[in-house]
Amino acid sequence: MNFDDENVPPENLPETLIRDRTDSSMHFRKKIPVGILGATGCVGQKLIELLKKHPWFEITALTGSEKSQGKSYKDAVNWMQTTLLPEEIGKIKISATEPNIPCKIVFSAVSSDVAGEIESKFASHGYAVISLASAHRMDADVPLLVPEVNADHLKLIDTQKTKKSGKGGFIVAKPNCAVAGLVLALRPLALEFGLEKVHVVTMQSSSGAGIPGVPSLALLDNIIPYIEGEEEKVEIEPQKILGELKIDQIEPYKLTISASCNRVPVTEGHFEVCSIKLKEKASISDIKRAWREFFPPIQELKLPSSPASILHYFEEKDFPQPKLHRDLEKGMGVSIGRLRPCPLFDYKFDILSHNMVRGASGGAILMAELLVKNGYIFW
Ligand SMILES: NC(=O)c1ccc[n+]([C@@H]2O[C@H](COP(=O)([O-])OP(=O)(O)OC[C@H]3O[C@@H](n4cnc5c(N)ncnc54)[C@H](OP(=O)(O)O)[C@@H]3O)[C@@H](O)[C@H]2O)c1
Repeated sequence: MNFDDENVPPENLPETLIRDRTDSSMHFRKKIPVGILGATGCVGQKLIELLKKHPWFEITALTGSEKSQGKSYKDAVNWMQTTLLPEEIGKIKISATEPNIPCKIVFSAVSSDVAGEIESKFASHGYAVISLASAHRMDADVPLLVPEVNADHLKLIDTQKTKKSGKGGFIVAKPNCAVAGLVLALRPLALEFGLEKVHVVTMQSSSGAGIPGVPSLALLDNIIPYIEGEEEKVEIEPQKILGELKIDQIEPYKLTISASCNRVPVTEGHFEVCSIKLKEKASISDIKRAWREFFPPIQELKLPSSPASILHYFEEKDFPQPKLHRDLEKGMGVSIGRLRPCPLFDYKFDILSHNMVRGASGGAILMAELLVKNGYIFW
């Protein structure tokens, strides 16, 4: 991510009066206050790790379920990141997950079973909700966003009831973690040659199951060939993301996907084996060129979380590998390898992406940056 001196906040950013995290005093800051709903979970922790030095955003509120509310973050969380928990974040008191927290943008990383109602409530109270949960992904008026693929779908926000209500709140959803890497690899091929069919087998890391996740005794030395609800998501979300915005709705991209999803004993990084049938003929070098030349308009914006290079094709015969390549471009890159002819369809290849960064927290932060840059956040 480009967290360097060039990444000054956008010019229209006013100084904001926000409550100090540690001593409740009020300060003026020239950063946008953001909250994290479900901050103690796997995704919430990664959001904190990525936001702690963010040039535009400042964490001003953390929430959890009843069991965590009122505790300091340090006491409530089972911190599982490889960097230390920042002291000032550890002191923040966990708030109830209610729409009265001091920020304008909330990242929702609450469990999927409660996310739907919570996110609607925040949107109706004027918050910009960036949802990492599945509850609203397929709602007709909610953009299901991969910024490099369908930034134009943001216009759907204007059709949301809560946005029109006068308070200005809305929901934007991030896709399933296995879908994020998959659609990025598919997008250049859909644009250049058209896609007809995709067969994908996923090998998904243990962090994808959250905390506490799959018991270690069940997962070590093993593969679990079932992830509840996952295959359905992988089979329907890409069509919406690759779809075309027609005035105020998305016309889904016509594509048949068959997915088989597996949990494997890798801590981070989802690996996917993919076979594709194209609409038009393309050679191996055409496909590699399409990946190499993929440069969507959002890259011009040089947003702080944009990777310099989105897709990386490995020529090595046994790459990509989760342990070696998940952190490419600080976890925002997508690795591809082993492109070869497929006896059933046209071609097959492997994809690797970091489920906690590209597939979750990093992808959500990039969405927030795009919303700010496009003027969707008002003060
Ligand atoms: N892990 C991934 O790779 C990944 C990727 C993309 C999207 N997602 C989605 O992101 C969300 C979070 O996933 P995760 O892996 O971080 O799950 P997790 O580790 O189980 O964390 C769940 C979080 O939700 C909070 N929570 C639970 N019930 C709540 C309630 N009634 N009110 C308020 N907060 C509540 C928990 O707070 P307490 O600790 O206080 O109970 C915790 O902070 C899920 O919807 C998941 O589907 C996950």
